[in-house]
Amino acid sequence: MKQFLYIANWKMNMPVMQACSFYRGAAEDIESIAAQDNVKLIICPSFAAISPLKMVLNENSHVHVGAQDCSAYAKGPFTGEVDAVSLQKIGCTYCIVGHHERKKWHGETEHDSAQKIEQLQVNDITPIICIGETHQEYRNKNTYNVLCTQLATIFSSITVSTPSLVIAYEPIWAIGTGLTPPVDTLSEIFTVLREYTESHIPNSTIHYVYGGSVQANTSALLKAVAGIDGFLIGNASTQWKTLRKIITD
Ligand code: PGA
Repeated sequence: MKQFLYIANWKMNMPVMQACSFYRGAAEDIESIAAQDNVKLIICPSFAAISPLKMVLNENSHVHVGAQDCSAYAKGPFTGEVDAVSLQKIGCTYCIVGHHERKKWHGETEHDSAQKIEQLQVNDITPIICIGETHQEYRNKNTYNVLCTQLATIFSSITVSTPSLVIAYEPIWAIGTGLTPPVDTLSEIFTVLREYTESHIPNSTIHYVYGGSVQANTSALLKAVAGIDGFLIGNASTQWKTLRKIITD
């Protein structure tokens, strides 16, 4: 059965104690839902909360744990950075790269994403690659151009063969705003993304997810869009009740 990915991007909203109590407060329910054949639940806490969360997860938990970022380098004088080797050692199997907030606050580019992806792939961590356009680009009907240019830069430097990837389309104007593109527009965008990606990196295992204001009252509609294999969820993923509704609706 095809799995739908639910990627919880907790950003810096869930300090360690809160991250652990999210799980502890509903462990049985979380596990029974995460164990469903058509569900893959991936939680991405802050760096500091990764190990504590891993420690409270049940033995044989069905919850996957990911990071929100990683260094573009394997080792060296990079104060404050976290390497992919360590992420792998502490049990991360996924890692977000190139999130808009990294680009906005830290000036990251697609070249940085490409380097990070390489680090992740050599450590068997699946990258969740974020791409997206501004509202102006969307209004000017420039979305395809922007997305394909972002992917072109990333794909030109992926060297590891048959990579497993998640591509997350997150319109910048939809993140945290309550706005989402109309479903027919989304379906066209995902068709273009698939065609472009499959022609540039064939033989890869790729999941295409949507992110940006996925909420309990919009998720059923978004889930029905052809071509979407999952969601990257920010705010709505920090409360189990809300996330549960998104998964089960
Ligand atoms: P949001 O965030 O769901 O709160 O809009 C999504 C994201 O930034 O990944």
